Amino acid sequence: MLSWMKGVILAGGTGTRLHPLTRITNKHLLPIYDRPMISYAVEALVQAGITEIMVVTGGTHAGEFLRLLGNGHEHGIDRLSYGYQERPGGIAEALGLAERFVGGDRVVVMLGDNIIERSLRPAAEHFEAQRSGARVLLTEVSDPSHLRHLGVPQLDEQGRVVHIVEKPEDPPSNYGVTGIYFYDSDVFDVIPTLEPSGRGELEITDVNNHYVRQGTMEYDVLEGFWGDAGESIDAYYQVNDFVRLHGANKG
Ligand code: G1P
Repeated sequence: MLSWMKGVILAGGTGTRLHPLTRITNKHLLPIYDRPMISYAVEALVQAGITEIMVVTGGTHAGEFLRLLGNGHEHGIDRLSYGYQERPGGIAEALGLAERFVGGDRVVVMLGDNIIERSLRPAAEHFEAQRSGARVLLTEVSDPSHLRHLGVPQLDEQGRVVHIVEKPEDPPSNYGVTGIYFYDSDVFDVIPTLEPSGRGELEITDVNNHYVRQGTMEYDVLEGFWGDAGESIDAYYQVNDFVRLHGANKG
């Protein structure tokens, strides 16, 4: 059990890319195969040994998360907290709501629409061995039109991240930054320094670039399938098809 690391699952936003499905519910409650989407993020964190979790949500369906997850014990969570984002202000703003919950600990942040095939445990152990800073999980993406919807790292010859570009016109590598991030507790000092981006949000990519500039950003390349089920209706069905055939969060 990783008692020194808390987990935060971000499950807010308006889910406009999945309208009209998300007019009547929160994106993270839509089904992926036989379970509501957010169940997979919960399972991923619990399986990695993280048992203190905050779910940050917003909008009009927040109560359904309580109905689904309850006090968390049935899902292997020791302590489950909830945060509420008053208006969609971006991933980094939502993470800021978890400051008191995380306290001085380290944190793994997972976007509630990200689904992975394999365990997060190796990456969590690598972050445990890291003295400070941040760690992101990259996934290999060969299709540039897909990369244009993601954060994409630019790497130097040694393979170190020199910059992350959010939704680049011209992707600087064949890796996408997944929505799974590890941070030391300094992250809560970084968030208040951010300015809203063109889409009016506090971007997690700006948080990550802070750590890149500081020289403390590390990464792992995720093995197996990764999908962002909120990216588009086609991505939603691709993730559904994958999980139905192959499962998710395998050890
Ligand atoms: C967000 C991040 C992006 C990341 C993606 C992964 O994008 O901003 O860097 O690659 O999640 O799911 P969004 O879903 O907010 O467009």
